[in-house]
Amino acid sequence: MILDGKAVSQKILEQVRKRVEAENIKAHLVVILVGEDSASKIYVKNKKIAAEKVGIKSTVIELPDSTTESELLDKIDKLNKDQDVTGILVQLPLPEHIDKNKIVQAISPKKDVDGFTPENVGKLAIGLEPYFYPATPQGIIMLLDEYKIPLEGADAVVIGRSNIVGRPIAQMLLRRNATVTIAHSYTKDLESKIKTADIVVSAVGKKVVRCKMVNRNSVIVDVGIFRGSNGKLTGDVDFDLVSPSVKYITPVPGGVGPMTIASLMYNASKVYH
Ligand code: GUN
Repeated sequence: MILDGKAVSQKILEQVRKRVEAENIKAHLVVILVGEDSASKIYVKNKKIAAEKVGIKSTVIELPDSTTESELLDKIDKLNKDQDVTGILVQLPLPEHIDKNKIVQAISPKKDVDGFTPENVGKLAIGLEPYFYPATPQGIIMLLDEYKIPLEGADAVVIGRSNIVGRPIAQMLLRRNATVTIAHSYTKDLESKIKTADIVVSAVGKKVVRCKMVNRNSVIVDVGIFRGSNGKLTGDVDFDLVSPSVKYITPVPGGVGPMTIASLMYNASKVYH
């Protein structure tokens, strides 16, 4: 069965829209895009469209590739102090001359709608409530919950250990009492680990999950999105071969992608002062 991220994301966006309206929430999301990364431009555009849909004010600040680290830090400092701004998102990747970690650490944790700052990541890791959970992992959990997929006691294999997806989804699954294995490029015998997993979350950016690895009861969450050799968008999972052999699977596109946007809007609707 397909985990229909597109349909579930619409439902969540509608819930957010209703709450923003009913509670008269005055949220303002500022998205900063540095440089000319074409995928980032599309992501940022989609975030703006979604914000408009749910009644959240959004501003996109486009800065040239030549922007210096200190100029960007100044910008963030101003936005941190601006009472009208309730959410700040710096689209990644940044140009190479800018230290991503310095930038992320400069964002106020109460405006960190990505949940990437050390305070929010640290709170997640030690079992406290962060101001924001990272959008993609939170979207994945929302999707699994919508289909009532049990997490408690489930054997979950997370492939990839990025700060954006791998590490935080592992933490969130652990919080829900799953038994979590984090696999990465040094992992031995990935195939046998996937074979016995109840839930597989793949966030690598290349084809890593193939038909013979999975089992009939697996739930497969494909976070990867890239252009295959035929020019079509594809994910980490060999969908055509794997989908008939598993219980649930997310399509690419139309799975995790739209859930990330809906989850981000959920975050952007939370206002801390
Ligand atoms: N680039 C890819 N995914 C993300 C994300 O979730 N947040 C930000 N800021 N940049 C990204």
